[in-house]
Amino acid sequence: MTLLALETSCDETSAAVVRDGKILSNAVSSQIQLHAEYGGVVPELAAREHLKNLLPVARTALREANVLVEQLDAVAATQGPGLPNALLVGLKAAQAMAFALNKPFVGVNHHEAHLYSPWITGNPPRADFANFQPNLSLIVSGGHTLLVLVESELKHCVLGGTIDDAAGECFDKTGKLIGLPYPAGPEIDRLAEQGNAKAFNFPRPLLHDASDDFSFSGLKTSVRYFIRDHPALLDDPQKVRDLCASVQAAIVEVLVTKTIRAAKRCGVRHVTASGGVTCNRALRNELARACERSGFTLRLAEKQLCTDNAAMIGILAERKLLNGLVTAELDSEIKPGWMLADCVN
Ligand code: KG4
Ligand code: ZN
Repeated sequence: MTLLALETSCDETSAAVVRDGKILSNAVSSQIQLHAEYGGVVPELAAREHLKNLLPVARTALREANVLVEQLDAVAATQGPGLPNALLVGLKAAQAMAFALNKPFVGVNHHEAHLYSPWITGNPPRADFANFQPNLSLIVSGGHTLLVLVESELKHCVLGGTIDDAAGECFDKTGKLIGLPYPAGPEIDRLAEQGNAKAFNFPRPLLHDASDDFSFSGLKTSVRYFIRDHPALLDDPQKVRDLCASVQAAIVEVLVTKTIRAAKRCGVRHVTASGGVTCNRALRNELARACERSGFTLRLAEKQLCTDNAAMIGILAERKLLNGLVTAELDSEIKPGWMLADCVN
């Protein structure tokens, strides 16, 4: 089965061709530079950029895969959650293509696609569902922080999420306070490498709370007050590196501790992690170390599949089609607030 998948939920325009669990191509056009000027994603600009870039990106994906439009068996797109006007571009393009080709359209939940992205491995990358194991999954992106129990393939239960800011948002907002460009996550990761994570002590919100929920807005506020009270610190490059390392350590400790605790409680033996923040090297290292200590095997999404991409949309769409789980109609609408908890197969 050969599918074209489109992803336009936020600030990456992406198209991928997937065939029988293999990723034949995964073209991504990032809008990061455009939005950096404004310190965050501007929804209307994002939608216009998707309109401009979607067809060229789709053409690139088809060309790199050496696949003709007529050879497609289905067309998939992210249906939600995401920015409404951005979602509309990819969804309506995919539906129009499916209509013209008289092939099925598959609408995919963006977070469900992240959830299965750690199972895509190898070179060339392919889905390794043959080795699927029940797992506890951490999804950490710019908009969401979720702990999910994946009981079996395509069956999941959301255990907890953020009650305010997501982990990625916390990286981005604290980075902005430090004066780093948007998105600050990758830059904090880089600066933290040469910083002392014990230099400053920041709160670990909800670390000892029994729930699987997260809260990062208090951490951001304490960084704000800390900088207000120590303004000279930002003039010292080593202190800035220490600050980045200390903030990063607080976020990572909360994410890792709560993930491991949930995995132990749920009785699974496998842990997975995905989403943009999973690119973070300290998070990858600390999760690996904690999993080893507790006897869990760990699957981290490969870095190029952590941030938003259409390959993960295509892999999940194909899986759904093969399992007869496709319910989206050709004229179905975008679902900007589509929670993973409401996405039941
Ligand atoms: O999954 P993603 O590409 O988009 C959303 O669906 O939100 O995640 C983007 C987020 C941003 O907040 C960005 O700062 C963060 O992922 N991020 C990182 C790193 N790379 C990306 N955060 C920390 N360290 C990184 N290396
Ligand atoms: Zn995402």
